[in-house]
Amino acid sequence: MDITKTVRLIAGFGVLIFTGGVFADGWAPDSQATEMPRDHVANAGGITDTRHNLSLSYNIRGAVAMDPYRNQYGAVCIYCHTPHGANSQIEAPLWNRTVNRDAAYQIYDAPTTLMRTVSAPGPTSLTCLSCHDGTIAIDSVLNMPSSGRSPTGTLSNNERGSANTAFLDDWANNEFGIFGAPQHFQLGDGVATGIPRNPDKCTLCHFESVPGSAVDDFNVFVMGTDLRDDHPVGVLYPDAAGVDGGFFNAPTVELPGSMAFFDTNGNNRADPDEVRLYDSGEGYEVECASCHDPHGVPSGGIGTNTRFSPSFLRVNNGVVGSHAGATGIVSAAPSALCLTCHTK
Ligand code: HEC
Ligand code: HEC
Ligand code: HEC
Ligand code: HEC
Ligand code: HEC
Repeated sequence: MDITKTVRLIAGFGVLIFTGGVFADGWAPDSQATEMPRDHVANAGGITDTRHNLSLSYNIRGAVAMDPYRNQYGAVCIYCHTPHGANSQIEAPLWNRTVNRDAAYQIYDAPTTLMRTVSAPGPTSLTCLSCHDGTIAIDSVLNMPSSGRSPTGTLSNNERGSANTAFLDDWANNEFGIFGAPQHFQLGDGVATGIPRNPDKCTLCHFESVPGSAVDDFNVFVMGTDLRDDHPVGVLYPDAAGVDGGFFNAPTVELPGSMAFFDTNGNNRADPDEVRLYDSGEGYEVECASCHDPHGVPSGGIGTNTRFSPSFLRVNNGVVGSHAGATGIVSAAPSALCLTCHTK
């Protein structure tokens, strides 16, 4: 191991005592992605300035600390998309990741209002779960940069299920970590307490909250495969009867076989700040991307250079100026996201 790598490891472990903060609502406003703006306001403008920039190019303090634990592809989109050779197992835009299509997710099982059918997560939830269920390596892409598949071109990744580690090891610029070989960590299992702490997960280091320090707690971002404690996904949106029953608002535009959405500006397009429902063959359903846009949405509306709504939400759910870290976020009414669908 050369000296630079040793220093990186020490740098990585030296900070274990200073850990980052996550707020009770799950939003972690002290990300460096929000505190290191480049030529514009913080956490605005594009995905490069958000937590979903997994190349960490915004991180001027020590992005290299992570390099032994996931392949550093040096680009933002590639952790999720590819222009060619996308995952044919999932109806998601040019998807470059392994997906957990065969996972036995435990689905929401306590419907009380309408007892709508809850099925397995649909494509626009499986995309998110390919990192957030904590079972697939963050760097498990199908196509690495420049080289099509792997640098040597002899291996390929799994399109569904877990990652092909031999393929990921083929990345030319691998860093060797404390475990000797290059590592391809998963986000975590959400129960990172005690010692040893998830030795093969990002939560090895990103494990608890002490506000104001460098390493953020990722446990709250790990949803696991048990989705019973999360807002239902893969759940049918109430049909006209349910809407008429007074519990739900009707979407303004319906595109059968594709999606329905709440067209707040009347331009007949599903804009990033508009809540949508996805039809992947079972009718209009709520999925992760109904509420979240993984690229970030300006809180002051599309086209404004305002800070993104917290937690990648399409509609700011009422985080206001008095909330720490919320300066510059244009706040909508409390619960605005929820009230788009629910009439309460
Ligand atoms: C009905 C809307 C809605 C759906 C559907 C939804 N979320 Fe969220 N999500 C939110 C809101 C609102 C927050 C903000 C934090 C809070 O209030 O708990 C959030 C927070 C989060 C967080 C931050 C940590 C946390 O738990 O608070 C993650 C990660 C997340 N969502 C991922 C997902 C994934 C993955 C899916 C699909 C399996 C999903 N969300 C589906 C509304 C939604
Ligand atoms: C963390 C994962 C992730 C990263 C990184 C990412 N995307 Fe996406 N992208 C998604 C997901 C998930 C969808 C599907 C969302 C939906 O169904 O609305 C999507 C959809 C899209 C779409 C089509 C729908 C839309 O919202 O316009 C485009 C275009 C797109 N991404 C471009 C990009 C580009 C360009 C980059 C890099 C600058 C990028 N994405 C980085 C996850 C990602
Ligand atoms: C390529 C892996 C990957 C994919 C795909 C992905 N995420 Fe994430 N996401 C992460 C990681 C890693 C973090 C937390 C670490 C960080 O960047 O600070 C995160 C953080 C988040 C947060 C917390 C943001 C905050 O400000 O506190 C939310 C919410 C979230 N993701 C939702 C989603 C949703 C919804 C999708 C799908 C539309 C998605 N993610 C797809 C890797 C991913
Ligand atoms: C060996 C410990 C270690 C491991 C394992 C680790 N990290 Fe980190 N991570 C760090 C340190 C240290 C920092 C803070 C670096 C700095 O000073 O900026 C950090 C910061 C980050 C940040 C920037 C957070 C922000 O927004 O401010 C992200 C994103 C991140 N890590 C992602 C990951 C992901 C994804 C994994 C798993 C693939 C991972 N890390 C595994 C040590 C680690
Ligand atoms: C995209 C539309 C949509 C959005 C946005 C939305 N919901 Fe839901 N929600 C639904 C649907 C559909 C169901 C399933 C209803 C059923 O049949 O039980 C549901 C179920 C629920 C349930 C469980 C009800 C039950 O029957 O057990 C609660 C609680 C809930 N939502 C709260 C919220 C909150 C809080 C928010 C905002 C963070 C929110 N929802 C945002 C569509 C939505």
